[in-house]
Amino acid sequence: MDVSENPAPHLPKTGRAGSRTQVRRSIAREAEELARVNRHSILEICSKDYDAQSLGEWVSNKTKENFEQWIRDPEKTVITGLLSGTISGVGLLSHEGWIRLLYVAPEALGKGLGKEMLRYLEDRARALGLSKITLESTVTAKEFYLRQGYRLLEEGPCSVGPGLKAFRMEKIL
Ligand SMILES: CC(C)(COP(=O)(O)OP(=O)(O)OC[C@H]1O[C@@H](n2cnc3c(N)ncnc32)[C@H](O)[C@@H]1OP(=O)(O)O)[C@@H](O)C(=O)NCCC(=O)NCCS
Repeated sequence: MDVSENPAPHLPKTGRAGSRTQVRRSIAREAEELARVNRHSILEICSKDYDAQSLGEWVSNKTKENFEQWIRDPEKTVITGLLSGTISGVGLLSHEGWIRLLYVAPEALGKGLGKEMLRYLEDRARALGLSKITLESTVTAKEFYLRQGYRLLEEGPCSVGPGLKAFRMEKIL
């Protein structure tokens, strides 16, 4: 199945503040917008915890072309988060059991979309037969993941860039 052209929609939910959230598989033609949302999330939300050089390194691979490739990769699940019909979040599970991306646009923060995207990726991991999820959390998202049942393993530099402080975390599914 070409997953990039056949997203499985979840029914929209009414989140906090009455906004409607929806999470589904991404399609290739969304690549440019997903890359934009990802960069915006990093540059706006994470700028309180990271310096400009780190942020620059971090956004450098968040391109339309890379998203197109990730969406088409059968070893990855890329998801689109929608808030009242607008693309407002992006997530990526690589099928060896790592969450590689989970980002919400600044204007969509705190409305339940991040939690819903995380649940979707966890359900997907279970469906793939995985028993554990591992991730490298930003400083910015550490408390969010702890609240969602993730356990802190160690603090260390992030694989995306050696200058980026991150926390390796895991959750048994
Ligand atoms: C982390 C992130 C995805 C959370 O998304 P969100 O949509 O704002 O989170 P939600 O509204 O779904 O919140 C879910 C729960 O986590 C809590 N929460 C969210 N962010 C939090 C934070 N920074 N600190 C503490 N709690 C937080 C919420 O209060 C909520 O709690 P509840 O379920 O008990 O009510 C979002 O903050 C983000 O995009 N951050 C910047 C990018 C980033 O660092 N991503 C992680 C990459 S590894």
